[in-house]
Amino acid sequence: MAIEEIPADRLDAEQFIATQLEAISATVGDSIAINALSGGVDSATVTMLGHRALGDRLKTYFIDNALMRQDEPQQIVALFAELGVNVELIDAQDEFLNALAGITDPEEKREAVTRTFYHDVFGRLVRESGAKYLLQGTILTDVDETVAGIKRQHNVFQQLGIDPQQAFGYQIIEPLIQLRKDGVRKVAQALGLPESIYNRMPFPGPALAARIIGDVTRERLATVRQATAITEEELADVDAFQYMAILHEDRVTGMREGRREFGQQIEIRCWNSIDARTATPTHLSWDTLEKLSHRIVTEVPGVVSVTYNITTKPPSTMEVV
Ligand code: XMP
Repeated sequence: MAIEEIPADRLDAEQFIATQLEAISATVGDSIAINALSGGVDSATVTMLGHRALGDRLKTYFIDNALMRQDEPQQIVALFAELGVNVELIDAQDEFLNALAGITDPEEKREAVTRTFYHDVFGRLVRESGAKYLLQGTILTDVDETVAGIKRQHNVFQQLGIDPQQAFGYQIIEPLIQLRKDGVRKVAQALGLPESIYNRMPFPGPALAARIIGDVTRERLATVRQATAITEEELADVDAFQYMAILHEDRVTGMREGRREFGQQIEIRCWNSIDARTATPTHLSWDTLEKLSHRIVTEVPGVVSVTYNITTKPPSTMEVV
């Protein structure tokens, strides 16, 4: 079934919210719904819609998959607590790391994260909660890219012809499926979410695992996490759609304190984009790049090289895995 797009410039956010609240209430009835909050604008918007429609009958979980950015799980849970939304933090770090152990192939990596998320951790939470309905922040771009075979996004089982009720025993509700990212931001703002959420940079479902080439281990996650924190700090004032640090697998020789060090490489990407379908690299100033590089090689242990990617999407994708 074709999905009718609502472009951001034709979106009446208030009317959209009213329609979705009604639809969620009608579908869920007196039952319980469940959703996972990642802190991104999509899942945050769905959480607020679900909370408004269902109140306490929406159970929201933040799954700590060991792949999030610095302090992200605690910060998101605290932010939603301030908004009156109770979010339960689930520590599933070991499960995800075990599932990812030894996997280097990008698709297998995504598959491991997806499967651990749905089949193991979230599936278990759903079974325990008794919820039959899952609220999910799928947007139209996810559908397009999945249908086009560019990527197998984790959240579009229906578009892939997989019946989630058969596969996992629950039904998915996707209130944002007609919107693209710019539309979701409008809805998020209209829902009263803070700017740190409605203007939040997109962050992929596989999280930092999408930014590690090769093995995903605690140690390598710590490296990319630290480089990510520095990158986000240094580029915070840059007008860009998304920026990220990527950890490479290849090592290169560096010199530190007079000794040769066969160290790690971080690649920086900073994208201009409207809706993530296409993207171009941002013209960062040389000063900005130099400062970023200097901070990463001095503050992140083991990193001796920093590069900046100047490729467009397509043919690149924004993430690396
Ligand atoms: P790519 O790498 O496909 O990224 O050019 C386009 C946009 O989508 C985000 N992204 C994802 N988001 N689950 C998500 O929810 C995913 O598996 C995923 N992969 C990429 C990416 O961060 C960018 O904004």
